[in-house]
Amino acid sequence: MNNKSKIAIVICSTRPGRICKEISEWVMSIMESNQQLDLSFIDLLEINLPFLDEPKMPALGQYQHEHTKVWSALVKSYDGFVFVLPQYNWGYPAPLKNALDYLYVEWADKPALIVTYGNHGGGKAALQLQGVLQGLHMRNTPTNLELSFNNKMLRKDGAFNDIRSDFASYEQPLLRLSAELHTMLKGA
Ligand SMILES: Cc1cc2nc3c(=O)[nH]c(=O)nc-3n(C[C@H](O)[C@H](O)[C@H](O)COP(=O)(O)O)c2cc1C
Repeated sequence: MNNKSKIAIVICSTRPGRICKEISEWVMSIMESNQQLDLSFIDLLEINLPFLDEPKMPALGQYQHEHTKVWSALVKSYDGFVFVLPQYNWGYPAPLKNALDYLYVEWADKPALIVTYGNHGGGKAALQLQGVLQGLHMRNTPTNLELSFNNKMLRKDGAFNDIRSDFASYEQPLLRLSAELHTMLKGA
C-alpha cells in the first residue's frame, strides 16, 4: 500500500513559451529527494478550464459541468499542493485564480507551498495568492519560495541554459519548505 502523501506540483502559467514548466520540473527534481511525498504535476494548460461557468456557488459542490466534476475529483485526490507561478503585473496569473474559484471544499484544510518567480522573485504575486488560499481555508507554509531570474539565464528558444546551477542557492530553502509541507501533512 502507498502511504505517501500525494502532492500536486501545479504548473500555473498557461502562456505559449512559458518557463513555468521547466521551473516546475526543477521543483519536482529537488522535492523528489523527500521519499515520503508522492509528487505529480497538474498542468493548468492541460486542464484547460473555461472561465468559471458553474451557476451555483462552488461551496455547495453541486456541479453541472463535466469539466468541473473532473477538476473536483482531481483536486480531491491530492493531500497538498505546490503552486509554481510567475508574477504578472504585480499579481498572479488569471488561469490560477479561475482554477481555484471553481472549487471550495476540495481545497479546504490542505497544505500549500507557493513558489513564485520573477525578476525580483515574484513576492507580490505570492502575497496576493497567500490571501486567496487563506480564503479557501488552505494552510500555507509559513514562508514561500521566491526565485529571482533574469533573461540572461535563458537561451534564444526561451529554455534555461542551466537551471540547476542558476537555482542552486534555492535548493536548500526548497528542501526545508518541502520538509515543512510534509510536517503540515502529518498534522492534518
Ligand atoms: C503579462 C505579464 C506580466 C508580467 N509582469 C511581471 C512582473 O510584474 N514582475 C516580473 O518580475 N516579471 C513580470 N513579467 C515577466 C515574467 O516574469 C516572464 O515573462 C516570465 O517568463 C513569465 O513566466 P512564464 O513564461 O512561465 O509565463 C511579466 C510577464 C507577463 C507575460
